[in-house]
Amino acid sequence: MPFQELINNASEKLAKADRLVVLTGAGVSAESGIATFRDAMQGLWAKFNPEELASPSGFRRDPKLVWEWYEERRSNVARNRPNPAHYALAELEKIFLSSNRKFTLVTQNVDGFHMQAGSNNVLELHGNIVKNRCFREDRLLSDAEIERETVPPKCKHCGSYVRPGVVWFGENLPQDTLSEAFEKAEKADYCLVIGTSGLVQPAASIPVVARQSGAFVVEINSLESAITPISHIFLQGKAGETLPQIVTEIKKY
Ligand code: APR
Repeated sequence: MPFQELINNASEKLAKADRLVVLTGAGVSAESGIATFRDAMQGLWAKFNPEELASPSGFRRDPKLVWEWYEERRSNVARNRPNPAHYALAELEKIFLSSNRKFTLVTQNVDGFHMQAGSNNVLELHGNIVKNRCFREDRLLSDAEIERETVPPKCKHCGSYVRPGVVWFGENLPQDTLSEAFEKAEKADYCLVIGTSGLVQPAASIPVVARQSGAFVVEINSLESAITPISHIFLQGKAGETLPQIVTEIKKY
């Protein structure tokens, strides 16, 4: 089927949907210049294994190295901006909410770009790279609660190291956020999956649960992924080009 026809079909269904769940992954931020884990392992970092850097044991082993890796990723996020895919999703949220329909955006990304682009209700499954937490007590720390004389800096309350506010390999996802995401997936009648390889659990199960509960599943990805086999429509293309096309289409209904 020609691509435009697939866009039209996906948009027609979306225009009629009542309860939309969107799942995004690293691909949605690719056009903003945010490297995925694996892409970020270049240059100085090429000799490290991402699963080792992004883990509590990696941080215990070499806190300075892990902190510096995250500082570099943070400055990359600070240098870059949301792209048309993020803005299209923010617009889609407004369209749904203004017609009293349900909209939930679940993201695996830690860059905060969905919020920057104007999305209001975002479930961040893997945390946010801008935030800081105490490594010992796990609580979120404001700038005023951080002593910045060492690398990594230290928690002013207990003297433990500060760590980035992201979920590392081997750690649990935030329980409330996760439960809400799956609850919405079970109730959804449409699930839009964008720019995720669908390999990392439990996020990868969201479209599966939505489909099992009767949702229509549409995937946008520049390449086939683990989600493609369970999608009703696969839109092969860049998120920053495809999503604005869909938003333009649904405004016609
Ligand atoms: N538009 C659409 N899709 C794209 C684009 C683009 N411009 N560029 C890349 N993609 C797709 C790739 O084809 C791939 O399927 O985005 C996907 C990115 O996959 P991953 O890098 O595996 O990212 P993600 O699925 O979000 O990873 C999940 O794993 O690395 C950990 O915790 C990290 O949250 C992350 C999780």
